[in-house]
Formats: sequence, C-alpha cells, structure tokens
Amino acid sequence: MFGGDKVEEFLEVAGDYDAFVFGAPVYFAGMAGSCKAFMDRAFFSNRGRVTFALKPAAVVTSARRAGTTAALEQMEKYLQHQQMVQVNSRYWPMVHGNAPEEVVRDEEGVQVMQVLGRNMAWLMKSIEAGRAAGVEPPVQPERRIGTNFIR
Ligand SMILES: Cc1cc2nc3c(=O)[nH]c(=O)nc-3n(C[C@H](O)[C@H](O)[C@H](O)COP(=O)(O)O)c2cc1C
Repeated sequence: MFGGDKVEEFLEVAGDYDAFVFGAPVYFAGMAGSCKAFMDRAFFSNRGRVTFALKPAAVVTSARRAGTTAALEQMEKYLQHQQMVQVNSRYWPMVHGNAPEEVVRDEEGVQVMQVLGRNMAWLMKSIEAGRAAGVEPPVQPERRIGTNFIR
C-alpha cells in the first residue's frame, strides 16, 4: 500500500543487520507518534517479519520527566510480536533530559545504556558462537494458525 518512504528505505538495508536498538522520545506519556507509525509499518510488513525474527533487540527511551515506562512497554510489543530476543540492562533503559547536554548529566541513565550495550555485544557473540557450533534456529510451524475471536 505504501512505497518509497523511510520505512521502505529502512527495510531495504535492515536484513543486513544482526541486531537492533529502537529508541523513541516520550510524548504525552507514551512513545512519540512518529516512532509508533514507523514501528507499525516496519513490523507489519512481510519483509519486516523475515528481517526481525530471532534477532537481538533493545528498546530505549528519552524523556524530560515522565512516561518512560509506558513508552518502553509500547516498544517492547513489537519485539515480542516478531520473536526478537530482548536485551536488557540492570534498570529500565531510559535516560532523562530535555536536550542531549542534559542527558549526559544523567549518569545513572548513561551507565544503564553502557551495560545494555555490553549485554547486546555479549549476546551477539554468543549467537555467533552457537551458529559456528551448529546450533540451528528453532523450526517454525509450517502453517500459521490464525483464529480470530469469532465462533
Ligand atoms: C509533544 C511533546 C510531548 C512531550 N511529552 C512529554 C511527556 O509526556 N513526558 C516527558 O517527560 N517529556 C515529554 N516531552 C519532552 C520530550 O520527551 C523530550 O524533550 C525529548 O527529548 C524530545 O525529543 P525530540 O527532540 O527528539 O522530539 C514532550 C515533548 C514534546 C515535543
């Protein structure tokens, strides 16, 4: 239905990447609408499904003050829907600040992101080592069963 937009550009190259970090600012105590529109399209497309399945991914958010956990919960839904392996840190992955120079003063938030990055690198190396050792990805059902709530 759509073509030639940013989502198409993203999906064109996304298959070449082994892992993803999706980030959004908080608007009105949820993820920013532009980011939601992007994620809706990227994850609903058939190409997105092939691109994302079983790859590591993290979600992060940045806000001046409130609504961070709600935004993270929204973003996690996309990962869960496409069998992505969610990478976490030792706190919820958020930073606070209204501008980049404020965010770097959020020392705890910055450290949470550093831990997240290291965890992501470790998982990617582990997956690569598993692949080299012959660990196969799980077999997917031949046919997807879709039962709408209509009987
Ligand atoms: C429309 C709008 C709504 C916002 N709502 C919130 C909010 O609910 N909670 C919050 O902590 N910050 C809120 N902010 C502040 C942003 O999260 C913060 O400024 C962020 O860094 C903006 O990122 P951006 O410049 O990439 O849009 C809002 C900002 C805008 C523009």
